[in-house]
This record gives sequence, structure tokens and C-alpha cells, in this order.
Amino acid sequence: MSSTRPAAVVVLAAGEGTRMRSATPKVLHAIGGRSLLGHALAAARGAEPERLVVVVRHERERVAAHALEVHPGALVADQDDVPGTGRAVQCGLDALAAERGAGAPPLAGTVVVTFGDVPLLRAETLVELAAAHEAEGNGVTVLSAVLPDPTGYGRVLRDADGVVERIVEQKDATEAERAVAEVNTGIWAFDAAVLAAALPRVGRDNAQGEVYLTDVLALARAEGHRVAARAVADTSEVEGVNDRVQLAALGAALNRRTLERHMRAGVTVVDPATTWVDVTVDVGRDATVLPGTQLLGATSIAEGAVVGPDTTLRDCEVGEGAVVQRTHGELAVVGAGATVGPFSFLRPGTHLGESGKVGAFVETKNARIGARSKVPHLSYVGDAEIGEGSNIGAATIFANYDGQTKSRTRVGDAAFVGSDSVLVAPVTIGDGAYTAAGSVITDDVPAGAIGVGRGRQKNVEGWTERKRAGSASARAAAAARAQQDQQQDQQEERA
Ligand code: UD1
Ligand code: CA
Repeated sequence: MSSTRPAAVVVLAAGEGTRMRSATPKVLHAIGGRSLLGHALAAARGAEPERLVVVVRHERERVAAHALEVHPGALVADQDDVPGTGRAVQCGLDALAAERGAGAPPLAGTVVVTFGDVPLLRAETLVELAAAHEAEGNGVTVLSAVLPDPTGYGRVLRDADGVVERIVEQKDATEAERAVAEVNTGIWAFDAAVLAAALPRVGRDNAQGEVYLTDVLALARAEGHRVAARAVADTSEVEGVNDRVQLAALGAALNRRTLERHMRAGVTVVDPATTWVDVTVDVGRDATVLPGTQLLGATSIAEGAVVGPDTTLRDCEVGEGAVVQRTHGELAVVGAGATVGPFSFLRPGTHLGESGKVGAFVETKNARIGARSKVPHLSYVGDAEIGEGSNIGAATIFANYDGQTKSRTRVGDAAFVGSDSVLVAPVTIGDGAYTAAGSVITDDVPAGAIGVGRGRQKNVEGWTERKRAGSASARAAAAARAQQDQQQDQQEERA
């Protein structure tokens, strides 16, 4: 491997991408948790170039802003009215020269060129291409691919000795040339000086009236420079996205690659076909991901955790050995050994402590639930702070919103909130305090007290027989009364 860094990687992203039929620029469409351009920039950055250049034109503002967001150090180069990949690279070189300043020596070393819409390309492939290019002393090295159906691509034409002569675009090729299966992937390594000398001499006399970058190869060869084509090992890496069918296909391929990486690192993925994991997600050893699960964004799953089935987590942190089933979560933290689900909704700001529990049909938001505390059934916990080892009874509602402002509720340690309590915030339930089932709690409950916030029950004897005479209920009540009277008589006889 070469020890030198490429002088620059130039990522071409000026094209329009009309076949996406989208208001969003093509390179901003995402797969695996990153935009197409984000993937291209990650690969480019992985090659550790001195300078990373992104060439933009179509939807210039949005694409440039996104490029700088994902890679703040990028140099954004604007392509002018002249079309073609060659022109795009020329504009990239011009921007580099402008940045270096008038007195600076010309760019030297290796310039790598890639596309912004080729998301599966790995940094290692760029590094290997640049290393081989330098080791062979080439002026131009093109990354080629041998495809079963080369339609649409530029074909790599070799002479009788197998040496690369030139590349011909599909639209300019003869029938015989179109039969060639080796194609230009669009990814290149150039000697900076060779590239800079050849580019201005590339014309537009071709079927598309464009400045073809591919023409640089023949020009360099004619100048006596070594040129070569190097076939990529895995052709899926160099597939581009032109429409949404390809977007989905490459999204699936990327997902398979991501899942394979995790499986080889010790993660059990029961059903890769229905499991979707963004490239940005961390999964620990011996974690199990069950079918129908999506792990997105900055999510991390610690060792031994079990996630799924049918769970979607975005930007969530799941602790060691935790179990999260049939859950939708966003910006939530689940402590080690905690259990969540089935059918739980963890909204942003949820923090479930170690060995805690959030159970069926429970929604949480901005809620810190302490270690070993449990919210097992049918509750809403919003803007809450719950201590350790507390139990929140079934169907408890933390009423955090009065229609104008949101307020917080505090529940202490080892507290016991009775079923069907409504805790009207702001309110505090002290350590070891209880609330009676069915209470509406509007005042603080001190530590160790029980809060009873409900009307007392009163029984009106004989009501049904009087008010519902002739009904089945009245007959049942009468029978029960008769039986009761009889038992009473028998007891009196014995006495
Ligand atoms: C190009 C190659 C072709 C190769 C194919 C691989 C040339 C002349 N042709 O063809 O040999 O087989 O890629 O996919 O290089 N772009 C710009 N500015 C432009 C034109 C294009 O930045 O003026 C960018 C596009 O955004 C895109 C990439 O370059 O990312 C390729 O452009 P595209 O028009 O798709 O080139 P192809 O015709 O596919
Ligand atoms: Ca293309």
C-alpha cells in the first residue's frame, strides 16, 4: 500500500438527476442513514486526501450546504455552463488552484475522481486504486468493471496487446465497441500534472457535446504516459443511483453489507431481510436483533441486548442486556437490564434506569425513570422524574399540560402510585409515599403519606329492585336477597 496521501479527491455532484423525479436533488436522497453524497464523502475522506473537493451546479445551494454540513473542511467548486465530467473536474482543479494562490507551485501527486451518486464505494477501494496507480507509475488509472450488461456505460477499449487505448461512450460507440463488457466505473486516479495538461485539450466534438473526462486517457497515452484500467473486485461497489428503483436496490445492498459486518462481529440477526440498520449504528457483541427491526441514526445497542421484533429505534441508546420488544423509540436511553414493550412509545428525553421497566401501551416523554422503577401498563409519563424502585400503577397519567404550559411531576424513591391515578403537574409524590387507586392528585403527597384524591364510595341498599323493577338485574338482586335471608334464618336456628 502507498504511504502517500492523494493530493485531492474530487467528488462530482453537479449533475441534475432528472430520473429521480424529485424536488430533492439526487445526491441528497438517503440510504442506510446517509445521503448519497454523504456516503461518497465518507469514502473520499477515508482515502485521507490533502484536499477534498465537491463540484456542484444543479441545486447548488442545497448541495453545497449539505456537503459542508457533513464535511466542513470540503472545498466547494462551482461548475460553469460547460457540460461534462471533464469540465466538472477542470472546475474542481481551478478551485484548488485559486485556493492555493497565484504564487503557489502547481498541484502535484495523485488526484482521485469519484461520483457523488455512487454510495457503496468503500474508502479501501479508493486507497487501493491510488496505491496501484502510484506503484505502476501511471499517468492515468481508471477503475473498470466487467458487467454482464454494459449498456449505458463508457466502454474500455484495449489494443491487441491488452493495453488500454481509450474509452468510448455508449452514444459514440460502434456496434462492435458496444459488445465490449469492460466499462468505465467513472472512478479514476490521475497524476495531477498529466490531468492538468490534458484537460484543456479535451474538446466537445461528440454525441453529447460534452467535455468527456474519459478523453483524458487517450490524450495522456498519446503523450507517452502509462495508462491502465484496473478492474474492481466487487462490482456492486461502483453502481450508481439514477432513479428510485436503483435507490432501493442499493439501499438493500448497503443494508446487507452493514448486517454482515455486525454478524461477523458477533451480533445475531435473525432475519436480515426484514432488519434495517443504518451505517451509523453501533451494535455490541451477543446482541440479538429480531425480525422487523429498524435501528436508525445514532442508535447504539450494548452487548447482550435483545431488540425486536418489530421495533424502530432512532438515536436511542440501549444498555447491556436490556430487552426492547415491539417498541417505537426516539432519542431515548434504556438502561442496562431494563425491559421495554411490547407496544411502548419512547419519545425524546426518555431515560429509563437500570433494570427499570416500561410495559405495554405506555408512552413516555422527557421522563427520567430511576433504576428498578416500573411503569408496567397503559400509562402516559411526560415531563417526569421518578426515583428508584417506584411502581407506577396501571393507567396512570402524568397530566403535564394545562393547555398553556407544561409542568413537571416528581415521584420519589420506592413510591407507589395506585392504578388509574392522575398526577396533575406541577406536583411531587414523596419518597415511600402512596396514592390511592383512582386518585386525581393535585397537591403534593409528603414522604410516607398516602394521597387519596377521590370521592368516597356510598352504597344505596335495595336500589335495583326499586328503580329497575322487572329487570334481569332486579330478579338477580331479589334471588341474592332471598338466599341471604335464608342463610340468616338457618344461622339463627342453629344459634
Ligand atoms: C460517465 C462516464 C462513463 C461511465 C459512467 C459510469 C464520462 C464522459 N462518462 O457517464 O464512461 O461509464 O459515468 O457511471 O465521464 N457530472 C458533473 N458535471 C457534469 C456531468 C456529470 O458533476 O457536467 C457528475 C454527475 O453529477 C454524476 C457523474 O458526474 O455524479 C456522472 O455523470 P453522468 O452524466 O451520469 O455520466 P454518464 O453519462 O453516466
Ligand atoms: Ca450515470
